[in-house]
Amino acid sequence: MEPDTTGTGAGRVTLRRGLPAGAEQQAAELYWGAFGRKLGPALNPPDQAVAFLAAHLNADRAVCALLDQRVVGLAGYQVDGRALTGGSAAAVLRAYGHLRGLHRLLLLALFERRPAPGQLVMDGIAVHTDLRGHGIGSLLIEEVAAVAAERRCREIRLDVIDTNPRAEALYRRRGFTAVRTRPTPCLRGLLGFGAVTTMCRPVGTTQP
Ligand SMILES: CC(C)(COP(=O)(O)OP(=O)(O)OC[C@H]1O[C@@H](n2cnc3c(N)ncnc32)[C@H](O)[C@@H]1OP(=O)(O)O)[C@@H](O)C(=O)NCCC(=O)NCCS
Repeated sequence: MEPDTTGTGAGRVTLRRGLPAGAEQQAAELYWGAFGRKLGPALNPPDQAVAFLAAHLNADRAVCALLDQRVVGLAGYQVDGRALTGGSAAAVLRAYGHLRGLHRLLLLALFERRPAPGQLVMDGIAVHTDLRGHGIGSLLIEEVAAVAAERRCREIRLDVIDTNPRAEALYRRRGFTAVRTRPTPCLRGLLGFGAVTTMCRPVGTTQP
């Protein structure tokens, strides 16, 4: 598909389906910058975490925003049993060792999200820190919505944690509504959040 270029307050951003070959490290660093706090206990130390993420990204499950050929934003999604972040249990144990890897597997299992039939799960959207607030996140969400429509999904689903009210506000503006909130008090000390809200948006709705 032809790349889509769109003006944002940050300049001319090119939207692209899929990660460009060779951009795995950039994408993993961006992802870690946004989600390192949450994923740290499972994948730390940071260097090893970024290397693990980069080695196991599924390039065909991302929508990217490029500025001057640099990945400045990405949104991962899961559909047909495949998500942006990969890595089997065996890969975790290989990378971290059998003893040190076991509790990591348990933590990673907490983040497992499986789409119901007809759903596409958006599982990780991140924009470079210096470029936030210029509309790139909104462009990525709409591109993921276009993917969902092309795949004839009926709904997009995502989770947002209670310590991220600005992301939740963005999702509401982009047509998502909260369907359930699960308190996770046991995770507050370890992962920093105390509740997870699931939000959905029907496919076929467009936002201005
Ligand atoms: C959430 C995120 C992807 C939005 O990307 P973006 O390019 O800034 O989004 P847009 O410019 O289209 O929209 C801006 C809105 O995003 C939301 N937002 C969330 N975190 C933000 C941040 N750190 N800086 C700026 N906007 C943020 C706000 O609602 C903001 O609107 P506001 O300025 O009225 O508060 C981006 O802020 C980010 O990467 N955050 C860190 C990772 C993250 O929290 N991902 C979501 C997990 S559920």
